[in-house]
Amino acid sequence: MKKKTIHILSIESSCDDTGAAVLKNNRVLSNVIAGQKIHAEYGGVVPELASRAHQQNIVPVVDQALKKAGVDKNELDAIAFTQGPGLMGSLLVGTSFAKSLSLALDIPLIAVNHMQAHVLAHFIEEETQNEPPFPFLCLTISGGHTQILKVSAYDKFEILGETIDDAVGEAFDKTAKLLGLPYPGGPLIDKYAKKGNPKAYAFSEPKTPKQLDFSFSGFKTAILYFLQKEQKKDPDFIKNNLNDICASVQHSIVNILMNKMKKAVKLSGIKQVAIAGGVSANSEIRSTLKHMEKDLGWTTYIPKFEYTTDNAAMIGIVGYFKYLNQDFGKENILAASRLDIND
Ligand code: KG4
Ligand code: ZN
Repeated sequence: MKKKTIHILSIESSCDDTGAAVLKNNRVLSNVIAGQKIHAEYGGVVPELASRAHQQNIVPVVDQALKKAGVDKNELDAIAFTQGPGLMGSLLVGTSFAKSLSLALDIPLIAVNHMQAHVLAHFIEEETQNEPPFPFLCLTISGGHTQILKVSAYDKFEILGETIDDAVGEAFDKTAKLLGLPYPGGPLIDKYAKKGNPKAYAFSEPKTPKQLDFSFSGFKTAILYFLQKEQKKDPDFIKNNLNDICASVQHSIVNILMNKMKKAVKLSGIKQVAIAGGVSANSEIRSTLKHMEKDLGWTTYIPKFEYTTDNAAMIGIVGYFKYLNQDFGKENILAASRLDIND
């Protein structure tokens, strides 16, 4: 029997990007994203402004996703949306929109966990990409999360380690702020680091009670003190050494992440290693992980660039798996600012 073709419209609105995508089974037909420049001048996401911008963006973004995909809304089989975790005001915009459209079109509604979606973006069908085999380890690194997961099935995640304070994306963004760079600072640190010396300055790895956990709040404070000390000697220290500072900070963060992953591989005996989340866009993380294949015999899985930072295609792939399991949300389903990885 021929498998039915399923079209899913997916919506992402957990933070400051409004996204809509259309998937035909596990293939992406369109993946539209509207970022919000407004937060750059505030040095971080302002929740109130984010929800207003989602409100403005959501209709045109969905419209564009359908047009680009060449799919009429009447051909859709389900609507998937980000239920959480994220900013409540932002989540409510996507949730309400998805509910209304599913009611209007009389098709199922599928609630998606944003963190699962980052990981399962690896299962979007691509010409050149391998899917990780179960079980695999996934280092999920974003603006809100830092986790080492053991992934045993599409819906089975075990947290082996996680941050006890700041997420790694925050370490990038807060360092960038100290350097006078706009939000989000991660991509800018990556850019300046390319021209700098990664060994110019050394920042030590913070200690954590559990060996696979992370801590980044002390790391950020160490950078603050370092900058204050150097600026006493040279008030233009940042301007004169921006590339070296960025390269050294980034190199220290990548070392911290890789040291933990080496321990996780040793403890779990699993050598299939994936990365996911916005920070997995970082060029040094991507190249260092690739080196682990040769150096340590790992098999690594690096997501396509456009599926690293927040996007709706990753919500759509989880929607597809849930559709196959007939795992549908009810009309009274709520957005949730906090969700565990297995929720
Ligand atoms: O996954 P994401 O888009 O949103 C969350 O779910 O948090 O991740 C956003 C984070 C931000 O902290 C941003 O600075 C960081 O990802 N990021 C990067 C890079 N691109 C995005 N960090 C380092 N290097 C990059 N190239
Ligand atoms: Zn995210």
